[in-house]
Amino acid sequence: MSSQRSARPSVSGSEGGGIAILGAGALGRLWAACLPPAAAGFVPRNPSALSSFRLHYHFQDSSGRQHTVTRPWLTTLADAELLLVTTKAGDTLEALNQIIGRIPESCPIVLFQNGLGSQQAVAARWPARPVLAASTTEAANRPEPDQVVHAARGHTWIGALTEPATGLVPNIIRQLSPSGLDVRGEDRILERLWGKLAINAGINPFTALLDCPNGEILESPLFLDSIQALCEELANLIAAEGLPPHSPRELRDDIERVARNTASNTSSMRGDVQNGRATEIDFINGYVANRSRELGLSAPVNQMLTERVKQLVPHPSH
Ligand SMILES: NC(=O)c1ccc[n+]([C@@H]2O[C@H](COP(=O)([O-])OP(=O)(O)OC[C@H]3O[C@@H](n4cnc5c(N)ncnc54)[C@H](OP(=O)(O)O)[C@@H]3O)[C@@H](O)[C@H]2O)c1
Repeated sequence: MSSQRSARPSVSGSEGGGIAILGAGALGRLWAACLPPAAAGFVPRNPSALSSFRLHYHFQDSSGRQHTVTRPWLTTLADAELLLVTTKAGDTLEALNQIIGRIPESCPIVLFQNGLGSQQAVAARWPARPVLAASTTEAANRPEPDQVVHAARGHTWIGALTEPATGLVPNIIRQLSPSGLDVRGEDRILERLWGKLAINAGINPFTALLDCPNGEILESPLFLDSIQALCEELANLIAAEGLPPHSPRELRDDIERVARNTASNTSSMRGDVQNGRATEIDFINGYVANRSRELGLSAPVNQMLTERVKQLVPHPSH
């Protein structure tokens, strides 16, 4: 896959993996930096507009060591063996639609988006493709455009969404294991995504609206006035979805524990608002509100938080 030997870089299994990454943001660059140099490259948004065949950035690993990473922009995807999709939830369907015709039918597509809604939309659009979802607690951020920081090590769980993806997880774990990141199979990936969504729904919108780190929401009147009803709405929807039940008390305890344990962190939603970027609120509290409506439930607190967060960035830059 070396772009020094090829005028048109591709991602080749013979040179170690054939992993294409769609979404060269914080999470995509984390995976590329951790995988062996010959294993992975990035899918460009617009191949004809590329000014260079390679992407360079500074990477700080989880122990604070820094080095420069150079990975190819992939101008052909014909030999891609695995596609990691690390776009934001709201960009995912369109980003995939732009390239799906260029990736082999057999290439597994692993979706890394937070929240819910985008994963089901992709699986419903391409049911004959091997589509999987990942839920990750790895944390990466991008303080400068050419700098990526691996802020916290975590775990990544991967599970099948479409029928053709059944049985593919062990091989995907083998392809990703040279990264040194902890990757595991998950038979109940939607449940795991739901667990993360519930925590995010109880923390992220408050941090964005109050413009504060996670821990500070716990004493705020906005949080104290709405968290009980928010957890009841979540518990009702989880039960209506047929997922293992959680009481509102359990959900609230989980949300408050995570907010305390990550007290000084800035949530991605607060960061997006600070940078004038679109948030993922439609795939977190917005998903809860919409899905509740579809199932004949009401979720006014999730709806209110969705509308208020959207008002914070009326004209997002992305
Ligand atoms: N960062 C983390 O630690 C972390 C952890 C867990 C889950 N996640 C989830 O992973 C997803 C990505 O997060 P992130 O923090 O990496 O976001 P991010 O830094 O905004 O990266 C997303 C990237 O996708 C690119 N993109 C958008 N549309 C594209 C298209 N059509 N073709 C090619 N590239 C396109 C964006 O390019 P532009 O900037 O040019 O728009 C951007 O570089 C989110 O759903 C997030 O919730 C992230």
